Amino acid sequence: MLEIANLRKYFSSGLLWKQSVKAVDGVSFHIERGETLGLVGESGCGKTTVGRLLLRLIEPTEGKIIFDDIDVLQLKKNELRKLRPRMQMIFQDPDASLNPRMKIGDSIAEPLKLQGHLNSGGIKVKVLDLIETVGLNPEHRNRYPYQLSGGQNQRVVLARVLALNPDFIVADEPTSSLDVSIQAQILNLMKDLKREMHLTILFISHDLEVVRHMSDRIAVMYRGKIVEIGTANDIFEAAKHPYTKTLLSPSSDD
Ligand SMILES: Nc1ncnc2c1ncn2[C@@H]1O[C@H](COP(=O)(O)OP(=O)(O)O)[C@@H](O)[C@H]1O
Ligand SMILES: [Mg+2]
Repeated sequence: MLEIANLRKYFSSGLLWKQSVKAVDGVSFHIERGETLGLVGESGCGKTTVGRLLLRLIEPTEGKIIFDDIDVLQLKKNELRKLRPRMQMIFQDPDASLNPRMKIGDSIAEPLKLQGHLNSGGIKVKVLDLIETVGLNPEHRNRYPYQLSGGQNQRVVLARVLALNPDFIVADEPTSSLDVSIQAQILNLMKDLKREMHLTILFISHDLEVVRHMSDRIAVMYRGKIVEIGTANDIFEAAKHPYTKTLLSPSSDD
């Protein structure tokens, strides 16, 4: 489904761009169709940058991205626009992803309106359907984000993302801003939806337990590089890289 090779992103920093931050420094992996690949590593190691690169929200310094046999980095703007609905990203903070002045129902309808495939009646039906899919109530349609909990708002974000029937989702710490008690509900919902909708997911988290719960395979990232990749079993039972061992040790903060 997705293959990336030697992906690099260097950010300029400092006065007069004299220095560069090697946020992503030669990353290669593939994700099978229907697979969840977990990407784990401490804060600042480059996880979010990988996610943004995959969706071409930012341009890489170097590398190759093949999505469903499409060479993503060769696409022109209008071709990329056509691909966009198929690749979606969920961010950590639902509040930042939702317009506070828009009712929930309108927020979910927005991508459908922009896409322009359905008339207003069709959109209404689809919005109700999505609301049910993510475990919200029809009455939530007329509420605003501030009237909902963080977990409910992340369900709204999920509904918006699912509205366009994506094939591939980058979920970037989707539950990190939520109470622990709510986290499991959202994670299990994502797991169920993945199975039902045959989604392919890059699941990003700094939390190895969360990644283990969600992923078929796990990639461990450290300072811009993938230091280990394998099944949860490989990683948990036979970690080879010293950094992975640190992540696994109970005294580790991350
Ligand atoms: N737009 C940017 N400009 C400059 N530096 C950035 C930018 N985005 C990220 N970085 C830097 O790249 C590194 C990786 O960041 P990020 O991908 O957000 O890590 P993570 O998601 O693993 O916490 C960090 O050092 C961060 O400060
Ligand atoms: Mg991040």
